[in-house]
Amino acid sequence: MTATALPGHPHFEFRGGELFAERVPLRGLAQRYGTPLFVYSKQSMLSALAAYRRGFAGRNAKICYAMKANSSLGVLQVFAQAGCGFDIVSGGELERVLAAGGAPGDIIFSGVGKTRAEMRRALEVGVGCFNVESEAELDVLSEVAVACGKTAPVSIRVNPDVDPKTHPYISTGLKGNKFGIAHKRTLAAYRRAAALPNLELVGIDCHIGSQITHESPYLDAMDRVLDLVEAIEAAGIAVRHIDFGGGLGIAYDSERPPPADGLWAKLFTKLDARGYGGRQFMIEPGRSLVGNAGVCLTEVLYLKPGEQKNFCIVDAAMNDLPRPAMYQAYHAIVPVTRREAAPQTYDVVGPVCESGDWIGRDRALAVHPGDLLAVMSAGAYCMSMASNYNARGRAAEVLVDGHQAYLIRERETAADLMRCERLLR
Ligand code: LLP
Repeated sequence: MTATALPGHPHFEFRGGELFAERVPLRGLAQRYGTPLFVYSKQSMLSALAAYRRGFAGRNAKICYAMKANSSLGVLQVFAQAGCGFDIVSGGELERVLAAGGAPGDIIFSGVGKTRAEMRRALEVGVGCFNVESEAELDVLSEVAVACGKTAPVSIRVNPDVDPKTHPYISTGLKGNKFGIAHKRTLAAYRRAAALPNLELVGIDCHIGSQITHESPYLDAMDRVLDLVEAIEAAGIAVRHIDFGGGLGIAYDSERPPPADGLWAKLFTKLDARGYGGRQFMIEPGRSLVGNAGVCLTEVLYLKPGEQKNFCIVDAAMNDLPRPAMYQAYHAIVPVTRREAAPQTYDVVGPVCESGDWIGRDRALAVHPGDLLAVMSAGAYCMSMASNYNARGRAAEVLVDGHQAYLIRERETAADLMRCERLLR
């Protein structure tokens, strides 16, 4: 059988005209579990992780998976078992890491709006570090830590003011963003933190955006952060670790982001040149670990010729795959079984009652109703951002490992959707 790999999607390939995830044909999974169905390749996640680890070989570095990209318990288990830490942004994410067997000491708690209750719980379980994003948050964290009789390990998130050259909604390191503490206020924030009770300053961090496909923003941000480390240490405050956040992009289409190992080789050349190569490093990658490890299988329901466009109406929708509607994002769409027929151009759309409910525009496809399509690069920010709009239950999820397929999430039923609601008496 001839095998054709899908470029940018390791461990997904066509064999004899059928799309496989590792050794498992996707058609069989759709028949067994129904559609829409998310399917993830464990090996693909592990090979993405291995690229970072190659870049960090011989260094003191910790990889904390940014679980907002995909917070399903089965996915978290893969990273916990592989020895990763986690970057979390809410109390809900904290409970998920604990449920999946993650070690509390390997958790970084990020986010601009932590509540007192979230801080308390994080202190109780002993998270490794709070990435604090404002002076006001420093004050509250100190108060909460005093009240619990705990010491909070703190890193301050700085806003390096560099342009990550990505979509404005996912740029986070520019002056106009809500994230981090401004570069010029950083030293004052460290002094303030050092003077507050029950805080222990352990590091510095930054995160400049997401789906970054160039090296230069990282190199610029690193220079800006190292300037700050110099200034903070000159003021007598030790900075034990440097956390560079996440943000490395993936190939959805023709993008060619730098490979994680190559990027880190360059970053370490700079770090060594400036004398910081021996520090402890942390990173918080999300998308680059899971994005191209997942697909969403969907069935073609109807083909609808229109005056200006032909529509291919499928059973997945913006509630399952919100990125096109939110960011005009591109996801490749490929047939699960190849047909030898002339393709036609379609807008691939879902059943939700919104014109924004599209999954792909102007796609050349040879399809019939009943065919299965795979929406590619659906491992990151799809299920974790899925909603129940139009009272649609969220899809099921399967994790493939070699020949094995594990159902890691059942499809939501109507009863699941109504479970927390009460009728009026
Ligand atoms: N660390 C922090 C503090 C973050 O805010 C984020 C992502 C990450 C790490 C992980 O970034 P990644 O490696 O995944 O790029 N929903 C959007 C992406 C939002 C990213 C938010 N922050 C999308 O679908 O493109």
